[in-house]
Amino acid sequence: MRIVLFTGKGGVGKTTTASATALRLADRGVKTLLLSTDSAHSLGDALGAELGNEPVEVAPSLWAVHIDTQQRFEVAWRDVQRFLLDLLARGGVDPITAEELTVLPGVEEVLALLAVRDLALNGQWDVLVVDCAPTAETLRLLALPEALGWYLQKVFPAHRRLARGMRPLAAIMGRGEVIPPDSIFDALLRLSDDLASVRELLADPAVTTVRLVLTPETVVAAEARRTFTALALYGYRVDLVIANRVFPKGRDAFRQGWVSAQQAQLAELRESFAGLPVHELAYGHAEPVGAAALRGVADELYGVLPGADPVRLSVPAELMSVDSADGEYVLRMWLPLVERAAVDAARSGDDLVLTVAGHRRVITLPSVLRRCDVVGGELAERELRVRLRPNPSMWPKPDDDAERPSRRRGSSR
Ligand SMILES: Nc1ncnc2c1ncn2[C@@H]1O[C@H](COP(=O)(O)OP(=O)(O)OP(=O)(O)O)[C@@H](O)[C@H]1O
Ligand SMILES: [Mg+2]
Repeated sequence: MRIVLFTGKGGVGKTTTASATALRLADRGVKTLLLSTDSAHSLGDALGAELGNEPVEVAPSLWAVHIDTQQRFEVAWRDVQRFLLDLLARGGVDPITAEELTVLPGVEEVLALLAVRDLALNGQWDVLVVDCAPTAETLRLLALPEALGWYLQKVFPAHRRLARGMRPLAAIMGRGEVIPPDSIFDALLRLSDDLASVRELLADPAVTTVRLVLTPETVVAAEARRTFTALALYGYRVDLVIANRVFPKGRDAFRQGWVSAQQAQLAELRESFAGLPVHELAYGHAEPVGAAALRGVADELYGVLPGADPVRLSVPAELMSVDSADGEYVLRMWLPLVERAAVDAARSGDDLVLTVAGHRRVITLPSVLRRCDVVGGELAERELRVRLRPNPSMWPKPDDDAERPSRRRGSSR
C-alpha cells in the first residue's frame, strides 16, 4: 500500500501531474485510486470524467473520487455540532448563523484526512494518489494530526476534569448548558485516536511520500523550498520535485528571455533539492486534458521505458529532517559529494544561506525556524547539521500557527 501526495502553489499543475501519475500506474495494472482533498474539485475536468463522492472506475484499474468533507461533516460531527448549535441557540444566535459558526476551522482538513485513511485501509487499492489543496492548506492538513492529537491527549483530559468539577456549580447557577456533556469529550477522544492512526500512516515513509509541484519562477520556487523544510519538520518524506511549464527553446526574444530565466531557476532548484530527483515537464501547446494528453504527461515525467516505476523512485533515505531536543532544533541535511568542509550558515530574511565547500544552498525557513538564531553548524558523515535556538525576542509574531515544532525526537536515519 502506498500513498502519494501532490502539493504545490496554486495553479502549478498538481491536478494534472497527480492525474497523469495515477493513469500511468493504472495502465501498468496497479489498482489506483485518485482522490482530491481540495474543495475546488477539478480532477473531473482533468480526466474528462464525471466524479462524485464515491469512487468510480474511470479507466481500467483507475478509480477516482472527490472527497466531500461537507457530507462527512454531517455524519462524523453531528454530536459535537448538535451541542454547539444548542448552546448558540440558547444564546440567542439564529440557527443559520449558528450552523455557519459551528463549521470549526480545521474540521474540513480533519475529515479529509480521515477519509484518506479510510480509503487507504479499505484494501481495494494498491496506491492512493492524492491531489491536495494548495500548499498552505496542505501543510495545515499535514500538521494537524500531530498538533490536534497532542492537544486532545494532553490538554483535553484536563479540560474534561475541569468541566466535570464545574458542572454541579453551573447547574446551581442555572447555566448547566454551557458545560459540554461527556459525550462530546468522548467524541473528541475518539477523534484523537483516529488522528493518531492517520499520523502513523502518513509519517511512515514506506507508505507515504510527497511530491512537490512547482514552476521555475522565483516566488513559486521559494514557496516550494519552504514547503520542503516544513515537511521535513513534520516528518514527511518528499520523493520528487516536478518542475512544470518549462518553456521550450525558441528563437524569438520572448521565449529566449523566459528560457534563460527558467534555466537559472532550475539550476538553483537542483542545488536546493540536491539529492532529490527534479523532473521537468514542458509547457504544452494546449491544456493536458483527457486520458491521451495525461498519458503524454506521464511519459514526459516518468519516461517511456517499461521499467520506470512512477511510485518507487530512488531517493536517499532522508534528505532533510528537523528534530527538536533540549529546546533547540537540529536541521539535518544529507549532502552529496562533500566529505569534509567548513560550513557557514547565515540568516538572510526568511532564508538560511548555507555555504559548504563553495556550494551555496538557500533554505527557506518555515515560521517556527524563522524565529530562531543559528547557534552552530557542522558537517559529518555526509550530513550537515545546523543547530537553531528559538530567540524569544522574535516571538510572538502574527504568523500562521499551522507550523508547529515536531515533537519527534532523534533522527530516524
Ligand atoms: N505543462 C503544461 N502545459 C500546458 N498547460 C498546463 C500544463 N500543466 C498544467 N496545465 C494547465 O494549467 C492549468 C492548471 O493546472 P492544474 O489544474 O493541474 O494546476 P493545480 O496546481 O491543480 O491548480 P489548483 O491549485 O487550482 O488546484 C490547467 O488548465 C492545466 O490543464
Ligand atoms: Mg488542482
